[in-house]
Amino acid sequence: MDQPKKKIAILTGGGDAPGLNSVIYTIVKTAILKYGFEVIGYKFGYRGLYTNDYMELNLENTSGLLHVGGTILFSSNKDNLFDYTVEENGHKVKKDVSDVAIENLKKDGVDALIILGGDGTLTSARDFSRKGVKVVGVPKTIDNDLRATDATFGFNTAIDIVVENLGRIHTTARSHHRVFVVEVMGRTAGWIAIASGIAGSADVILIPEIPYTIENIVKKIKERDEQGKVFTIIVVCEGAKEFGGEAVVNKVVEDSPEPIRLGGVGAKLAHQLEQVIDNHEVRSVSLGHIQRGGEPSAYDRLLSVRYGVAAVDLVADNNYGQMVCIKKGQISHHSLENVIGGTKNVDPDGEYVNAARSLGISFGDGIEY
Ligand code: F6P
Repeated sequence: MDQPKKKIAILTGGGDAPGLNSVIYTIVKTAILKYGFEVIGYKFGYRGLYTNDYMELNLENTSGLLHVGGTILFSSNKDNLFDYTVEENGHKVKKDVSDVAIENLKKDGVDALIILGGDGTLTSARDFSRKGVKVVGVPKTIDNDLRATDATFGFNTAIDIVVENLGRIHTTARSHHRVFVVEVMGRTAGWIAIASGIAGSADVILIPEIPYTIENIVKKIKERDEQGKVFTIIVVCEGAKEFGGEAVVNKVVEDSPEPIRLGGVGAKLAHQLEQVIDNHEVRSVSLGHIQRGGEPSAYDRLLSVRYGVAAVDLVADNNYGQMVCIKKGQISHHSLENVIGGTKNVDPDGEYVNAARSLGISFGDGIEY
C-alpha cells in the first residue's frame, strides 16, 4: 500500500499477559509487509522511553513470536513518567519526566507510539496523547476488567490454565476426602474465578462482587457430605471478601501506580475452615503467576492478531489518541479520553452468576436455587 514511510515504536507496560508477543509480532508484520513502515520497541515499558533504551524490531527478530508467552520488550509496572522517582542531591524525589520521553521520541524519529497495557499504562498513554504524542493504545489484562472493551488477551489463557489445574486438584481432593481452596488472580473483579470455576466444576466460587460468610461455605460442604460427595473445591478470587470484611493484601509495591497487591485470602480461608470442620482436612493452593505464564491460547493469539492489525491500521490512517477494542464481537476503537477508570465487574445478578447458581454452585452468600 502506498503510504508515506513512518517509524512506529511499541512498548509493553504493567503486568504481562499471554498475547503481548503475539501483538508485537502482528504489529511488526503488518507495519513492514502492509505499509513499509519501520518499527522499534522500547524496553521495560515507559522506563525505556525515559532512558532511551530500545531495539529495532524486524521480521527476523520477531519470527516465530506469535505463540510465545511474555514480552520480548520486557515490562514494568512501576514507571509512571508523570510521577517518576529520580535521585536529586542524594534524595529520591518524584518528578514529571514526560518531556524527556517526548524528546527521546523526537531524537529517535518516532512518528507514532503503540502502547500495550492495562488501566495504569493506558492512563499514561492518554496523558502523552494530551501532550501531542501520536499514540494508539492496545488493551491488555488477564483480569478481563477493562470497561472499554469486551475482551482482553490473556484472560482466555488464564482460565484455561486454572481449569487445567482444577482438574488436577479434583483427583487429589477426592483421594483424601479433602476441602481444597484454590486462589486465583483478578484483583477486584471475579471474572477469572467465575469463568474457571464454572468450567472447572468448582462447588463454591467466591468473588469480590459477592461477599461470603464462613457459615454459608460450611453449609455447602455439609450438604455435599450428606449427598455422599467426599470432597469440595472452592475457587476464590484474590479480591474476595468476607461479609463486612476487607480484601487480604499481600504486599504494597511503592512506586507502582496501583501499589496494592492482593493475595492470601485462600490460605486465610483454609485456616478459618479448618477451625470449624472436623471431618475433612483443608488445603489451599494459590495459582499465582502461573496464570500469566506460557503460551497464549488460540483464542488469545487470534485476539492479539486482530488488535495488532487494527492498531497499525489506525497509525496508517493518522487516527491517534485511540485505543483498539472489541465491541459485540467486532474490532473497533475508542478515544483514550473515554477508556480509563472504572472496573468492569461481574454482575451479581447477571448471566454468569445465574448459570453458576443453576449448577448448584454456592457463592457463600446463602442464596441457593
Ligand atoms: O492485573 C493482572 C494481575 O495479574 C492481577 O490479577 C494481580 O493481582 C496482579 O496483576 C499481580 O501483580 P504483580 O505481577 O505485580 O504481582
